Amino acid sequence: MSWHVLPTTTAESPRAEFALSVLTGLSERPKQLSSRWFYDDEGSRLFQQIMGLDEYYPTDLERWIFDNRGVDIAAHFAGRSLDVVDLGAGDGSKTFVLIQHLRDAGVTVRYVPIDISEGAMASLYGIAAKRMPDLEVAGIVGDYVAGLRWLSAQDDRERLVLFLGSNIGNFDKPRARAFLRRIWSGLRQGDHLLTGFDLKKDIDVLLSAYNDSEGVTSAFNLNLLSRINRELGGNFDLDQWRHFGTYNVFTGAMESYLMSLTKQEVHIEALRTTFRFQSWEPIHTEYSYKYLVDDIVDLAEVCGFDGIERYTDPKGWFTDALWAVR
Ligand code: AVI
Repeated sequence: MSWHVLPTTTAESPRAEFALSVLTGLSERPKQLSSRWFYDDEGSRLFQQIMGLDEYYPTDLERWIFDNRGVDIAAHFAGRSLDVVDLGAGDGSKTFVLIQHLRDAGVTVRYVPIDISEGAMASLYGIAAKRMPDLEVAGIVGDYVAGLRWLSAQDDRERLVLFLGSNIGNFDKPRARAFLRRIWSGLRQGDHLLTGFDLKKDIDVLLSAYNDSEGVTSAFNLNLLSRINRELGGNFDLDQWRHFGTYNVFTGAMESYLMSLTKQEVHIEALRTTFRFQSWEPIHTEYSYKYLVDDIVDLAEVCGFDGIERYTDPKGWFTDALWAVR
């Protein structure tokens, strides 16, 4: 078994794209680095660790939803043949629970994980081989939308696209709408999308989820600077930076920053540039938007989907919304 690697869709090589994004982001005021660069092999490994933390509740709650409501989700597809397309699959552990429910409902499943990291794809294949040796897996290493387009061109199987774990929250609202519209454009009428949304809740819960006591989220955020050092010849001194996660009550988003602990200069060889930072100057690195149920209903409507059902944990902290392409 092996996966399909898509050529990069941009004119730039991935390294050149990373370099350009760092150059433009650190030239902005306030400075910023896009969260899309978190997920090199080390970042993907750290994110797996975050998902295992007690304080990071979304993973456990979504697993609860699949354990307890997976039967109801699967009932919508009983007896059919389905490509289960997993966008940003990670280790796929929640997805296997859902796939088991689908198979129990007589669904013939082909599992199509799409992930930008080849390391993550390799370990996912290993896990799939152990957990469901008879499952057909057709992985795609590449960008989500490019992966979906490529898949559409292959055959006309019905698709259930999964965008789990509140990944949607990492887009600001206009970009979330644009992303969902692009997904929609790669699907056919009657295909389905199941999206995980982290709901608005007690701010203390959010703050501890994004500032965990073991410091894994901090390492995950700081890895962005290590990545710049590794791949672009930067000389960030990681001891001079601190992770900071805070909740913005106006926008409804957790926001992550890297704070410069001192006045310092950082040279990045590949960019031929030295960047200056003041003491306590932030670099913004991530948004994690939290949703209200009304926002989700509205989003489906605006992006061309019919809301079919929502599946929520008992505390009302997390919900998976099943939509059909209109
Ligand atoms: C991948 N994404 C949904 C995570 C989130 O919750 O925004 C990434 C993350 N950042 C810090 N902890 C987890």
